[in-house]
Parts: sequence; structure tokens; C-alpha cells
Amino acid sequence: MRQDGRVTDADAVLPGSFPDPAAMRKQYRAEGLSEAGLAATPVEQFARWFQDAAVEAHLFEPNAMVVATADAEGRPSSRTVLLKHFDEQGFVFYTNYESRKARDLAENPYVSLLFPWHPMARQVVVRGVARRTGRDETAAYFRARPHGSQLGAWASAQSSVIATRADLDASYAELAARYPEGEQVPVPPHWGGFRVAPQSVEFWQGRLNRLHDRLRYVAEPDGSWRVERLSP
Ligand SMILES: Cc1cc2nc3c(=O)[nH]c(=O)nc-3n(C[C@H](O)[C@H](O)[C@H](O)COP(=O)(O)O)c2cc1C
Repeated sequence: MRQDGRVTDADAVLPGSFPDPAAMRKQYRAEGLSEAGLAATPVEQFARWFQDAAVEAHLFEPNAMVVATADAEGRPSSRTVLLKHFDEQGFVFYTNYESRKARDLAENPYVSLLFPWHPMARQVVVRGVARRTGRDETAAYFRARPHGSQLGAWASAQSSVIATRADLDASYAELAARYPEGEQVPVPPHWGGFRVAPQSVEFWQGRLNRLHDRLRYVAEPDGSWRVERLSP
């Protein structure tokens, strides 16, 4: 790497040996997902699969999801965030309102959430519209966070470029001195939730020979849900 931080061709040396991704092949489970077995609403169906992922399969962070946004020009970006609540109104996550994702959502509220439950050969993809949660709801969740995470929300100007790690640590130390453990930390005005109201939710179950099941709920104008099967 050069002193100005730029990476040159000289840096592009791959390690001597690593596994060949093209040779990685798993056969997925035979048990399928059928229309008859689906719940009445996608949120109910999500609750069943979330239970399977968290309780039966003990997946690590089953509430981790990939949130994809796009800016006004349609340029996409994605990142992992943690689902913190879900019900028939939608799927809620918390973040910094000045982050890239929040700026994207201010310009374009359409969003996709992807739950990658690979060890179960399952994936759920939600598409919908994101709106900010109310300040009361945000405050209630903020109060439930550990003290250190509350300070972290103040210390980080998420998605902005910073000069050094030390600047971040200094900012945290200053806040920790101002709000010692036990002292109430105010809710940062630049921090809060987004609730994604689903317009479609696809449940993907891996099956033998790549003949997977894909069942998608699509919202109808009257508020009911239509279920359609997609080719894998
Ligand atoms: C497992 C995991 C969980 C994360 N959870 C959150 C979260 O709940 N909220 C959040 O703002 N960032 C979370 N992050 C960090 C984001 O992936 C991302 O770096 C950050 O939100 C800035 O994204 P942006 O610049 O695209 O807005 C998480 C990262 C990982 C790997």
C-alpha cells in the first residue's frame, strides 16, 4: 500500500493456496415447502421459520439480515443489520439516520431484506417500503440497549470517513466520561429505527438437484396476500 492509502498492482498478490470456490458444492435437504403448509400471512410464516432458525437450528445471529438500498440514481448498496422487532406492521431495524443506508432511504424508500439461513438451506427475501419508527418507539428500544452501545451510537458518525481509529476511541472515551455507567444517555437525534412494511416475501427452501422450492407472498390492494410459486 502507498503512503496515501492507495493500493497498487504490487499489492494484488493472492495467497499461495486457498480452496477453489468452484469446487464447493452442497446437496440441499429433501424436505420441501408446500403451498398447503404455508401460514396465512408472510409474517406468520416468517415467525415459524425464525423459530426454527433460532430455537431448533440454533443459528448464530438468525436476526442478522442483509439490507439492500438504492440511491435516487438506482445505485445499490447492501450491508448486514440486526432485525430488532417484527409483527404484521413490518420488520424493524435501528441505525444512524445520517448513514449511507439512511440517506438512500430518504431518497428512495424501497428496500430489500435478506435472511441468509445457509445451514438450513433456507433464505427469506422481503421487499417493501421503509419508514422511520416514531421517536417514542426508538427511545424505548434505545433505553433497552447496553450502556456501551448507547454511547457507541453517539460516538460514531456512521458511514463518514475518519482519519484514525484513535479518533473514534477518543470520542467514545469523552462520552464515557460525560455519561458514566448508571447515568441516562440521551437518545441521539441522528439515530433511530426503520420499519419495513412488506410488499412481497419469498421463502426459499433448498432441495435436491437444485430443484428448490420458492414460494412468494405478494400483497394485494385489499390487504390480502396472494401466494405464487417461482421456478428455482
Ligand atoms: C452481524 C452484523 C450486524 C450489524 N448490525 C447493525 C445494525 O443493527 N445497525 C447498523 O446500523 N449497523 C449494523 N451493522 C453494521 C452495518 O453492516 C454497516 O457497516 C453500517 O450500518 C453502515 O452501513 P452503511 O454505510 O451502508 O449505511 C452490522 C454488521 C454486522 C456484520
